[in-house]
Amino acid sequence: MSAPIPQWEPLAEPQLVDQRDTYDRMRSACPVARSPRGVTLFRHEDVVAAANDPATYSSATSAYRAVPNSLDPPEHARFRAVIDRFFEPGRIRSLEPRIRTIARAVVDGLPRGVGVDAVTDIGYPFAVRAQAEWLGWDDVEGQLLGWMADNHRATRSAERSRTAAAAAAFDAIVLTQVQHRRQLGCAAPDDPTTELLRMTIDGAPLDDADIVSILRNWTAGDLGSMAAALGVVLHFLATHATVQSALRRGIGDCAEAIDEMLRIDDPFLVNRRVTTVAARVGEFVLAPGTRVYLNWTSANRDETVFGNPDAYRPRENSAHNLVYGTGIHVCPGRPLATMELVVAVQTLLAGTSRIELAADAEALRETYPVGGWRHVPLRLS
Ligand code: HEM
Repeated sequence: MSAPIPQWEPLAEPQLVDQRDTYDRMRSACPVARSPRGVTLFRHEDVVAAANDPATYSSATSAYRAVPNSLDPPEHARFRAVIDRFFEPGRIRSLEPRIRTIARAVVDGLPRGVGVDAVTDIGYPFAVRAQAEWLGWDDVEGQLLGWMADNHRATRSAERSRTAAAAAAFDAIVLTQVQHRRQLGCAAPDDPTTELLRMTIDGAPLDDADIVSILRNWTAGDLGSMAAALGVVLHFLATHATVQSALRRGIGDCAEAIDEMLRIDDPFLVNRRVTTVAARVGEFVLAPGTRVYLNWTSANRDETVFGNPDAYRPRENSAHNLVYGTGIHVCPGRPLATMELVVAVQTLLAGTSRIELAADAEALRETYPVGGWRHVPLRLS
């Protein structure tokens, strides 16, 4: 027997005003809730269990193939073996000086004493330049920034034709990079994009659709995540003077500090799964074929694991932090994302004496499917 699953309307206006607050209330009232979109898991324990059980919770949530995001075992592991190599520690270390140069250029270009937006003036340009540098894509900054703005508007409109057009526009940007390297052959630049073209799985090269899909998942989604993450981190620093001051003095591990800020206000809200068989969550049973949302933002604030969800405890909370997911789909890009965020924060702290919220403008929250902040007006001195 299954208890009836409580209903909610995740996209109703009042729920979107402060999504974190909504999820906190939902989590304390019920572990799961149903809407016409599917069933959301709010608690840390349930999200971790589902993410670690791909046989019951499949990632193939639609007919659309996303590599590796929508793949299940055993195919998923074959692609992850290829993808994980791109994020090995030695590679991330050798990229770091170039990302520092980009961060310095972004920080040096920021005005002092007047309003700057942490998301659009710092997060977007830094994320786009850093990602283009890593992939070896020249002269795409304007194109990618334009695409990010279009994609953001399309996502918020929730109109399928607009999101499909944005996806097609992104594929065209990626395909240009792929075709350019194919034309150059042996003379193609030595970068991760070229390397991906030369990769094989079971002795066969990857087909173009899979290469474009991998590159799309390395860029399209993650440019937004990186910009949103910087917005959250800079908002936290601006509103927590003692943490800012400690990091300025080199006290504490910067990567661990950033992870904890993102745990408290996780901008990467949810990932989807679909049940392959009947699945039990506490007293509830999800029928086979149920679409399930793993709510990372909620799980990362579960009082039964973290106590007061807003208490900043980087060291104590790191083992249970779910910002980069868990299980077989755990974020492969984490080492790259962490290095970029650490470099951005260190460079900004080194280039300023104070980061505070601008007095004359309000920070504005993002809404589904993105979390964190849409705008964080800052004043740098
Ligand atoms: C702050 C930045 C980032 C956050 C918060 C983040 C978060 C996540 C999370 C929660 C997942 C798990 C998805 C799931 O279980 O379905 C994931 C997967 C993934 N992430 Fe990230 N990510 C970030 C940056 C990046 C970057 C920079 C890259 C690549 C350049 C990247 C590439 C991926 C890919 C390819 C997957 C799918 C892995 C798979 O399905 O096996 N991410 N990410």
